[in-house]
Amino acid sequence: MKTIFSGIQPSGIPTIGNYIGAMKQFIALQDDYDCYFCVVDEHAITVPQDRLKLRKQILDLAALYVAIGLDPNKAAIFIQSEVSAHAEAAWIVQCHTTIGELERMTQFKDKAQQQAKQGVTAGLLTYPPLMVADIILYDTDLVPVGEDQKQHLELTRDFVDRFNQRYAQKGQTLLTKPEVKIPEHGARIMSLQDPTKKMSKSDTNQKGFVSMADTPDAIRKKIKSAVTDSSGTIEYDVENKPGISNLLTIFSAMTGKSIAELAETYRDSGYGTFKADLAEAIIDVLEPIQTKQAALLASGELDAILDAGAEKATMKANRTLKRMQNAVGLGRKRS
Ligand code: AQP
Repeated sequence: MKTIFSGIQPSGIPTIGNYIGAMKQFIALQDDYDCYFCVVDEHAITVPQDRLKLRKQILDLAALYVAIGLDPNKAAIFIQSEVSAHAEAAWIVQCHTTIGELERMTQFKDKAQQQAKQGVTAGLLTYPPLMVADIILYDTDLVPVGEDQKQHLELTRDFVDRFNQRYAQKGQTLLTKPEVKIPEHGARIMSLQDPTKKMSKSDTNQKGFVSMADTPDAIRKKIKSAVTDSSGTIEYDVENKPGISNLLTIFSAMTGKSIAELAETYRDSGYGTFKADLAEAIIDVLEPIQTKQAALLASGELDAILDAGAEKATMKANRTLKRMQNAVGLGRKRS
């Protein structure tokens, strides 16, 4: 059975961008793959976090994984910092990655700019090697992510080639080279306030995103105030109508209807009706998820799910870590 790994940072409340670009893909995959879905809390601390908020966001995100439809009996759901192999493997990856490679990462450049005032941590630069470690530890074949992670996946594939070339014994599969899986539509949901910018959970402008925890009223208000254009026509044209095109993409992802069908339905209806219906479509998806998430958090069942997930993940991750340590020549040789 092939293996899937993916993670989300508990750096805020996930947005519908995270949901459409990454999480929604997970659900369909859990029946056919050995799945590992991680709350990547070590990634979150590459920028400053409030410790109490972080703790809450970790649990909320773990509960959200289950609430969207992931089955803990099929997929391992776990917290990154509870599987120590991630940090250990990341060190080996760092020692086989150049600073030049890391400085070329666009996410680093963007986030370094945002963090310039507070000071850019070394962790922000070495975020990609930790992500490489996350992926390779599970002999991952496929990584379902949004488009913004494509460059990090390329880095992972380059690292695997380099590491295997240097260390693999004849006939040995030392590390598995993963493929990236990006959704055909919704791989890059844009900000509601600036449709040229990616929707992000850490955006300081709350109106820029719909979070998975937003109330129906907040969703209606945010969609109503989403930036569009003055033409008044509902058409999918990313270059000339980025706002409406983004809303059509969200609408399509939330309803399963094609963008062409939606554009046809709303062609002459005006932005008001279109936005009102879109808001209701988002609410229809989010409300049951929120109810399930709240029930799970109140039930106390999450600890057992996360313990079991960490146990399964640790077993697999430690095997790969040992292979990597042996390959490099660290410590004493162990089987
Ligand atoms: N706007 C987006 N559209 C589609 N997919 C997206 N993803 C993120 N934003 C969008 C995908 O969600 C997964 C989890 O992302 P992450 O939390 O690990 O980090 P990120 O990509 O940096 O997401 P954010 O929301 O922008 O977080 P912050 O604000 O903390 O940096 C990934 O698969 C990502 O592609």
